[in-house]
Amino acid sequence: MPAPKSSHRRVFVTRPVADAALRRLAETARVDLWDDDAPPPHDELVVHLRDCDAVLSMVSDRLDAAAIAAAPRLVVISNLAVGVDNIDLAAATRAGVAVGHTPGVLTETTADLAFALMLAAARRVAEGDRFVRTGRWRMWTPRLMLGRDVWGATLGVIGWGKIGQAVARRAAGFGMRVLYAAHPGAGAARGAGFAGTANPAPVAKARRRDGGTIPSGGPGPSGEVTKFGAPAALGPLGAPRAERVELARLLAEADFISLNVPLTPQTRHLIGRRELAAMKRGAILVNTARGAVIDQAEMTEALRSGHLGGAGLDVTAIEPIDAADPLLKLPNVVITPHIGSASHATRHRMAELAVDNILDVFAGRLPRHCANPAVKLRVPRSKGPDSHNARQK
Ligand code: DGY
Repeated sequence: MPAPKSSHRRVFVTRPVADAALRRLAETARVDLWDDDAPPPHDELVVHLRDCDAVLSMVSDRLDAAAIAAAPRLVVISNLAVGVDNIDLAAATRAGVAVGHTPGVLTETTADLAFALMLAAARRVAEGDRFVRTGRWRMWTPRLMLGRDVWGATLGVIGWGKIGQAVARRAAGFGMRVLYAAHPGAGAARGAGFAGTANPAPVAKARRRDGGTIPSGGPGPSGEVTKFGAPAALGPLGAPRAERVELARLLAEADFISLNVPLTPQTRHLIGRRELAAMKRGAILVNTARGAVIDQAEMTEALRSGHLGGAGLDVTAIEPIDAADPLLKLPNVVITPHIGSASHATRHRMAELAVDNILDVFAGRLPRHCANPAVKLRVPRSKGPDSHNARQK
């Protein structure tokens, strides 16, 4: 079923995301899909934005002031992420463009990965895997690959938002003492809880970059949607037991430190030389937030010297990290490629919520999860219903 003739809305989707969500979007708007897992080059993104009313963007798309200024019809940027540091929020607000994001639906999945990285770094899981695969495992010996206990240790959580609290809840099962510190600028943090997503709508076709259509059924691009972890099954999770402390005390006492802060001017390089030096010798640092929250050169040095016992990183200063980066030479580092929210089910929920945010604005209201709620929505400069179709032929 083609997009309704009367639809004059146009949405640029910068990567293939869950088909069901795209089909729902295509019932209301023309969908131009960048049908590639690699991001559109910035100049191409700008070209696409020129004719769009909305963009469904990713953390790896830079929506800077110039891109926003070049998009006269744009009314909403809907980021498939909780973080919005790839978007110039001030420029969007000035231009009357709402910025939607996807908090809540990815909390538990991201906390799972933070815990996985913590365990992997402490118990040398990736190092052990490499050891076995490269044929170096000769026999069981009592001193082989000794690591650190996670159970009973002290966890310091920096950033007490949803994800930080979800990490702390997991720590309870390991008998950990939990300390937490709010991050600078935390009072300004926004975002409400998961508001749920609409039921999937009937299938519609949407335009791809190559002129193809979005398939009408079956699993989405990321494969089968698992039934695990549906929000309804979780029930009330309760507040974690934790003690609020100043950052200095957290750094001095924690055996493990989890970073769960948004990247803002106040949190850039929040963990630098001084903070690393203030950590307990042998502490393990876990980052599932943004790479730039840590001064990476200083962290590399602290890992090399052994003052920092290990790191579990899902994010790096530059993504993807250069294959020659000295960090990758260190055995006490476990790195994953920014996959904190990457479960089948969560990516589907994120796509549905990102579409909801767009449809909210098309219905004349702010996105249900809006990162710039002070925005005064610009009146869309719409074209006649058929003008877009005419140009496509
Ligand atoms: C986020 O949501 O901000 C993640 O980094 C991308 O899933």
